[in-house]
Amino acid sequence: MAGRIPETFIDDVLARTDLVELVDSYVHLKRSGKNYMACCPFHQEKTPSFTVSPDKQFYYCFGCGASGNAIGFLMEYTRLGFVEAIETLARNLGLEVPREESAGAPRDDYQPLYSMLEAATAYYERQLRATTTKDRPVRYLQQRGLTGQTAKRFRLGYAPPGWDNLLQELGQSDADSKRLIKTGLLIENEQGRRYDRFRDRIMFPIRDSRGRVIAFGGRVLGDDKPKYLNSPETPVFHKGRELYGLYEARQASNRIRRFVIVEGYMDVIALAQFDIPYAVATLGTATSRDHIEKLFRHSEELVFCFDGDDAGRRAAWRALENALPCARDGRQIKFLLLPEGEDPDSLVQQNGKAYFEGLLDEASTLSEFFYQQLSTDVDTRTLDGRARLASLATPYLEQMPGGVLQQLMLKRLKEITELDDLQLRPADKSPPAPQPVPAADLQSGSPPSYLYEAEMAATPEPGAGETSQRGPTAGAAPRHAPRGRPARSGGERPDGLSLVDATIRMVLNAPRLAATLEFPEELRALQLPRMELLLELIDFIQRKPDASTAAILGHWQTQDQGDVIFQLAAREFLLPHEEQSPELSDALRRLRLQKVEQDLDQIIADGVKDKARFQELLHLQRELSKT
Ligand code: UTP
Ligand code: MN
Repeated sequence: MAGRIPETFIDDVLARTDLVELVDSYVHLKRSGKNYMACCPFHQEKTPSFTVSPDKQFYYCFGCGASGNAIGFLMEYTRLGFVEAIETLARNLGLEVPREESAGAPRDDYQPLYSMLEAATAYYERQLRATTTKDRPVRYLQQRGLTGQTAKRFRLGYAPPGWDNLLQELGQSDADSKRLIKTGLLIENEQGRRYDRFRDRIMFPIRDSRGRVIAFGGRVLGDDKPKYLNSPETPVFHKGRELYGLYEARQASNRIRRFVIVEGYMDVIALAQFDIPYAVATLGTATSRDHIEKLFRHSEELVFCFDGDDAGRRAAWRALENALPCARDGRQIKFLLLPEGEDPDSLVQQNGKAYFEGLLDEASTLSEFFYQQLSTDVDTRTLDGRARLASLATPYLEQMPGGVLQQLMLKRLKEITELDDLQLRPADKSPPAPQPVPAADLQSGSPPSYLYEAEMAATPEPGAGETSQRGPTAGAAPRHAPRGRPARSGGERPDGLSLVDATIRMVLNAPRLAATLEFPEELRALQLPRMELLLELIDFIQRKPDASTAAILGHWQTQDQGDVIFQLAAREFLLPHEEQSPELSDALRRLRLQKVEQDLDQIIADGVKDKARFQELLHLQRELSKT
């Protein structure tokens, strides 16, 4: 078997290929300023929104969000696989593709962690078979109706009681035991004592989309608390991005007709056992837009399934908020609230596959669920109530990509409210939104509203003040702000990006310059959406200070957050001039200020026990606020 293609070779091919020439050989390109444009080959359109940057060597379509570098273009246009695309490009350049000696050579620095996690999975699996340990866990799984086959398919295991089983098994050398700590499987307390995190629990390995175990959930066998213990965030596990069961679902079928998003590990597993192999669960977190986009990459239909209680209803509404901007034509989003006290596990065990699939088939459409939920708070029999419904609904509808679905939902609103002249603000005419727009919004079928935002930023209009009236009301609070804590300094930017997104964009735009700047280490603990992505990017350019934008995009092409990276990089097309370096250092200063303010919030919440630290933070806050 041929080994892996070395990453340096891929970088080299990208560096030598001219994307403009490549694209032009398939689609006729026209020059437009410093970029090239064409009608997008990936969706139907009459006016060109497909843009190619000769400097940055990547393309982006403002209509459909398609994006990539030379490899990505070939893959998407000619339906070649990754390796074949590289081979084609190499052939064009007259190069031979080298292969690394051993297939499956360490992909990156995290390989030892993956190996550790794999060894732990195998160890926990063995405990379900070992006569000394298996009785209680096997009885438990049987009592929950699971077959041995299902347990095997999900690689279920058992962590026996005791403080150091895993430590003894896998952590003999100090290096190994440190690795175990990094994976979250081992805990080191303040006295330096090391012990197993998971004890006397059924183990559910969480796998990434390539099938590598990256974390675990562990359930008690009885009623102890907490019922489930999960791995902490680690270098290879980012809870907000992963979906339990996605790998297994993709293993079960090539074409996934739909996904059902459920709340628990056991729901995913029970459904799979009843031949409903397309369930996934978020890991005790809200369904994020990243989750939703990830699922839509494999299927056009999502059914959200939540408990019928208040918490379930709230979770469903949050999922809806995150789903609206992803609701492009051709995609279906449905909602199913289960009877109180039931979950998919209990329902499918009691009633079987046909019954549960029947529920899924009859789940509410996005439109039905949206108006049902909004109407619970208003009395639509009165004119007042109907007007209120209209004002509640429109900001949500405006977040949808323009298209048939949005129009249908507007039509429905007109029917319910009997108000005929309701209008949505066309996305391309709207003044800059009062809060940062998450970059995921960029990927929409509607005209590029941020084109307009960029202009607005350059020439603020006096009328822009009225925008505060338009801010989405209840429930549509900006998603980038940590819950319950209003963004203070530097959250809002004239370009409509959150500070973190803007920083990512600047780094992407001038990676070599960024690699020379000192990155403030304390920012690693800053809690803001997409901070992890920024950190990954920083780590990447620190490892490879010579990487070009195209090389970075190439690296992210196959990664989870690739879409976001491409969308942010595409902002480049909107900038008239090259970025100035002070902007990036200024962004870092403002991120530091946010970190200081988060620390202050925390210290105040804790009752200001450490006065000296408090003073120090106040001082830092003043220093960093000076521009
Ligand atoms: P549920 O309490 O609904 O659990 O939590 P469940 O899946 O029905 O569990 P069983 O049937 O009692 O075994 C739903 C999900 O929330 C997370 C887990 O991901 C769980 O599957 N959770 C729940 C935790 O992370 N910790 C907890 O203590 C409880
Ligand atoms: Mn359950």
